[in-house]
Amino acid sequence: MSDSTDLAAFPRDFVWGTATSAYQVEGAVAEDGRSPSIWDTFSHTPGKIDNDDHGDIACDHYHRWPEDIALMRELGTNAYRLSIAWPRVVPDGDGPVNTKGLDFYDRLVDGLLAAGITPNVTVYHWDLPQALQDRGGWTERATAEHLARYASVVAERLGDRVTQWSTLNEPLCSAWIGHLEGRMAPGLTDLTAAVRASYHLLLGHGLATQALRAAFPGARIGLVTNHSPVVAASTRPEDVAAATRMDGHINRWWLDPVHGRGFPADMRELYGVDLPERAGDAETIAAPLDWHGLNYYFPATVADDPDGPVPYAREVRLPDVPRTGMDWQIDADGLESLLMRLTDDYGIRRLYVTENGSAFADTVGPDGTVDDPGRVRYLEQHVAACARALRKGAPLAGYYAWSLLDNFEWAYGYDKRFGLVHVDYATQKRTVKASGRRYAELIRAHREGAATG
Ligand code: IFM
Repeated sequence: MSDSTDLAAFPRDFVWGTATSAYQVEGAVAEDGRSPSIWDTFSHTPGKIDNDDHGDIACDHYHRWPEDIALMRELGTNAYRLSIAWPRVVPDGDGPVNTKGLDFYDRLVDGLLAAGITPNVTVYHWDLPQALQDRGGWTERATAEHLARYASVVAERLGDRVTQWSTLNEPLCSAWIGHLEGRMAPGLTDLTAAVRASYHLLLGHGLATQALRAAFPGARIGLVTNHSPVVAASTRPEDVAAATRMDGHINRWWLDPVHGRGFPADMRELYGVDLPERAGDAETIAAPLDWHGLNYYFPATVADDPDGPVPYAREVRLPDVPRTGMDWQIDADGLESLLMRLTDDYGIRRLYVTENGSAFADTVGPDGTVDDPGRVRYLEQHVAACARALRKGAPLAGYYAWSLLDNFEWAYGYDKRFGLVHVDYATQKRTVKASGRRYAELIRAHREGAATG
């Protein structure tokens, strides 16, 4: 953060957090009654994950959570976004509740609260019980209903202490990457399955929202979606139309129905797949929310691709732009513009940046420290973008850095490190990186300014 960062733009009670998800950090995949999820299956299928990595041990957070809470305190964060593993809580998806699974989250939530850290709980971050996948997974309406029942089980146990909830993380990835591109679990490449999955995920979101509200009327419920601003690679009408299609595919398809506009007509026509709609679903999907969470990493520049896959738009790799270790373009203005779009176009009244961060090939130096200037810069630029959006009126209430820890980065395995804290997977030793120290400085400076301001 440069010293000139406009920290005064951030409200006094701004939430500074970090985020993780269950399968990426917990490990302990066969402990205390947890059943396999689609990610256990996928990651143990040879060739699906770089280096054939898997989440069997990950960061061993299931056992090391007290140490990880201590790290959150060291950073000075006041919130932590975590997800619950469905296969720990309802191992076969819709049957008996596994109390031991709930006990883990009980301990974790109590530990966070004792440390003064507010938990923000995501009900579903991609780890569907394999037993439900065996019955069709998200292509089936029943999975949406099972999600709602699982959400109420979790809320009944934790809702007296957890007030901040989101139903889903990034349904786009579950549907498009998991069912259309095949690069994530369950690894399908089927447009009809993908469109049906997208519909049932959003229906599940609506049903789970209702279930959480019924269990705890005071719960503050949101949805977390990931987006990229889309620009056309040229002014050619074909490229401009491709940009509109890509915007529909990755942005409007996910935002419009949730915010009461229904599924976009142009995209329905493009996909050409009948949605499994029933009377009342549109209202359920648009159930009123208390907040919306934006996950932002990179923008997209696209050109027409008539012979390519849906949405017939291909990403163009811009030369000479800064990139992270994921090869993702770094563009903090994209975060500002998305925050303003959610504010101005969708009229959202409470926003969080629920994920934002960067992977780089970090190494531990001879003196035991981890110097990660690329991530420091990325953090500084994106927090500055939040400040600009706040100045323009975005109702931004918090920022969660992805991620607290280096962790299992899905199909990329462990080589891609997103953490503010380095993890040595051989020893499980944690080392706060320079970016973690920078985040701590920023949080402290904001707090001191807010106290005197
Ligand atoms: O690691 C993921 C996370 O699970 C969901 N959002 C994007 C992150 C980085 O790819």
